[in-house]
Parts: sequence; structure tokens; C-alpha cells
Amino acid sequence: MKPKILIIDDDASLRRVLEYNLQEAGYDVTAAPSGEDGLRLFNEEPPSLVITDMKMSGMDGLQVLKAVKGQSPETLVMIITAFGSVDMAVEAMKAGAYDYITKPFNRDELRLTVAKALQFTGLAAENRRLKSELSDRTEFRTIIGSSPLMEKVFAIVRKVADSEASVLITGESGTGKELVARSIHALSGRRGGPFVAINCAAIPRDLLESELFGHVKGAFTGAIKDKTGRFRLADGGTLFLDEVGELPLELQPKLLRALQERVIEPVGGTGESKLDVRVVAATNLDMEKALADGAFREDLYYRLSVIPLHLPPLRERRDDIPLLLKYFCAKHGSSEVGFDRQALHMLVDYAWPGNVRELENTVERLLIMRTGDTITSNDLPDKIRVNGSRGPSSGAVINLPAEGYSLEQLEREVVVAALERNAWNQTAAARFLRVPRHTLIYRMEKYGITTPEKSAP
Ligand SMILES: Nc1ncnc2c1ncn2[C@@H]1O[C@H](COP(=O)(O)OP(=O)(O)OP(=O)(O)O)[C@@H](O)[C@H]1O
Ligand SMILES: [Mg+2]
Repeated sequence: MKPKILIIDDDASLRRVLEYNLQEAGYDVTAAPSGEDGLRLFNEEPPSLVITDMKMSGMDGLQVLKAVKGQSPETLVMIITAFGSVDMAVEAMKAGAYDYITKPFNRDELRLTVAKALQFTGLAAENRRLKSELSDRTEFRTIIGSSPLMEKVFAIVRKVADSEASVLITGESGTGKELVARSIHALSGRRGGPFVAINCAAIPRDLLESELFGHVKGAFTGAIKDKTGRFRLADGGTLFLDEVGELPLELQPKLLRALQERVIEPVGGTGESKLDVRVVAATNLDMEKALADGAFREDLYYRLSVIPLHLPPLRERRDDIPLLLKYFCAKHGSSEVGFDRQALHMLVDYAWPGNVRELENTVERLLIMRTGDTITSNDLPDKIRVNGSRGPSSGAVINLPAEGYSLEQLEREVVVAALERNAWNQTAAARFLRVPRHTLIYRMEKYGITTPEKSAP
């Protein structure tokens, strides 16, 4: 028997698109133009899944959700929201929605989300498990990105979340290292436990040891009572060691021991105690260099980086920029704001040395300074506009090394970058480079560039 799906949307064309796509995918679909009509259909023949638009005149999606859940708690409800109304989606998730999709969505995403949702039907008995999975999903969603590079990051995050292995997140400042660390925790079996963060670079050296491991009363002048360290506070959860590359050398053996033996000893204490902590660390330092300089112990490095996770800088995943712009407009309460073509070009072309953090700050400032709902190139800060004024598609940042650089090498890099940027689609990459496809293929052969297996078109 085909699973039954009920679609509720007051937008006739979107309703038809949904209906058509899901019928194509083999479901038994009915559709209603309003919440009231939808509930009537729901009562006549209860479906396994209800997909409802959020914003509708009359009953809105949240009311539909509550009515459905009130009558039949095990029926799954998915909400459709306009892109950027993430807050609303989160509210719906809290009220028991199974998932949400944002408009505009593509066909594959829709089918995948629905297929996943339907895997859960009939598992009412496992409602608790379902609920805890839902809370992860919301957490995870807040990492925005659809570029192949970010997809890779997501895949690793998903895979490693449930293991106990230490993860070392590397990446430039503002690339989302802390966000990813929090997602790993939220997706892990430890999500019910604490997530405790400590910034190894921000805490004065002589306080860091007791901050990490705690101290006993009288251990040193000023230790007027016992102090619980962050390791202990994270017991049963995840400890996030931020800027771990800056951990003083003299503390490194103690950290290594805590990781290896899973025991800690507070400063001035007389015994060690067991603990159950998963460590996720992050750094934006060049660890190879720190190792070579002897500033970081190799054994500790290998302990921390059982799973290395590199977050690419924003300029290497420019496809994500338009999405991030929209997301941050919405996050700052201005989902109605858009960018004109030229402004968007310049924003995509800019090098973003401060990565996502810089982009978010820029959006915030643009939203405050804007004069209308459309942001134009004139509204952009000079550093972004100057860069863009070389021509809308010139975003190339070329830092030539003092000792010289081979033109062939440069050409090779440009070809690879264009291919990566276009998901290894040769036609698209050739168009991007303004050369015929055979020219691109010739260059690929010349430089021995081959399409990676998985991303092949
Ligand atoms: N992919 C993303 N989607 C949405 N928000 C993001 C993303 N990446 C980063 N951010 C946001 O950008 C800001 C910076 O991210 P975060 O603090 O995680 O960076 P970081 O790599 O830890 O930076 P630093 O090295 O400077 O500490 C945060 O507000 C974070 O929520
Ligand atoms: Mg950080």
C-alpha cells in the first residue's frame, strides 16, 4: 500500500508542484487549499504524513500542526516555510513538527525529506527517540551551506558525531569551528549531557590548569575553596578545547594523560578521578608549524586529531555566499531584504578574509544602513566594492610569492578552481573560463587534472 500524504497550501501552483512531485515519487497524495479543508480531509482518511504551508490565511501551519497532533500524535507533520523563516520553523519543530522544508526547494530535497520522514511512521512507541533526533536536526540546520565542500563537512560531522573519537577542527577564523563543534555534540549520544567550552588562548597561563582540571582549597594562594574544572563540568558530555594550538607546553602532558587515561587530577589534589568526556578541539594555527617548532607535542596532536576536520574558507566555497546572505538577513529579522545583481556579484567575488563572521557582520551593518528593501552596490563597503569594480566576475585574489611563480602552475590552479567551483561539470567550467570545452579538456589533459570519482557529472 502506498503511504498517504496530505498537502495543505493556499498557494495553488505550489500545491500542484508538491502534489505532482510526490505522486511521481509513488505516494498516494491528496491536497487542500486551506487549513480548515485540510483538517476535514484529515478526519475522513488519516494520512501518514501531513505537509502544510506555514503562512496561510485562516488557520496557519502551526494551528494545523497542533490540531493534527492533538488528534493523532503519531502522524508526522512537515512544515513549509519561506526561506529564512528559520525561527518559525524552529517553533514548529518545538510544537512537534517532524521536519521542515524551506521554499524554494528542489525536487530531490523534497523527495528525500519525505522519504526519510516516512521511514519513521508507525514508530509511535519510539516517540522519545524521535524527539531527541528532532532536536538534533534543528541544531544541524543552523550550519548553512550547500557547496560540495560543505556537504563533505556535513558528511563527516554526521559520521563522527556518535563516535567517541577526538575531533580536531581546523580552519581560518570565522569559518564556523565552534558551530561545528556544537553540532557534533548535538548529534551525538551525549547530547543530553553538557557542552562545555574553554578558550585556551583567552585564559591566563597560570589559571588555565585549574580552569581545566580544577583545584583543591589551599592549592595555591587565593585558592580559598575547591574549584571544579571544565573537564569535570563536561562529564557525560563534550569538552570543546578552543584555540588548542595555544595550550602552553607545560600543560600538554597533563592534557594528554586526561585524554589517554580518562582521569584528571585537580591542582593540589592527591588523587585522580575517572571521567567520561568526549573532546572536540579547534585551532586556526598552522599545526604543522607548531609541531616543527616544538610548540606542540606530537603525541598530543595525534591524540587530539584522531578525526581531523577542516573547514574551508568562504572564498573556496563561494556558492554558499548567496545562501548565507539570505540566512543572515532572516536571522536579523529582515527576510524581505534582497540584493541587486551587481551587489550580489561583488559580495560573491569578495575574498572574505574574516569568513562567515565577517559576512554576518557585513550583513548586519548593511541592514542597519539600508534605505530600502534592495541593497545595491552603492550600499556596499569600499573594500567589497573596490574589489568588485574590476569587473563583476573578477574575484581573483592573487598573492604572488616573492621568489616568483610559474605561469603554468597558476593556470593549472585556475583550471582546478573553475572545475571545483562548477562541481566538476566541464561544460559549466569551460563557460566560466570563457573558453570552448575542448580547450578546457586540453588543459586538463596537459596538467593531468582528473575528475574526482564521486563528483563526476
Ligand atoms: N556555515 C555557517 N552557517 C551559519 N552561520 C555560520 C556558519 N559558519 C559560521 N557561522 C557563524 O559565524 C560566526 C563565527 O563562527 P564560529 O564562531 O563558529 O567561527 P570560528 O571558526 O570558531 O572562529 P574563530 O576561529 O575566530 O573562533 C558565528 O556567529 C557562527 O554562528
Ligand atoms: Mg571560535
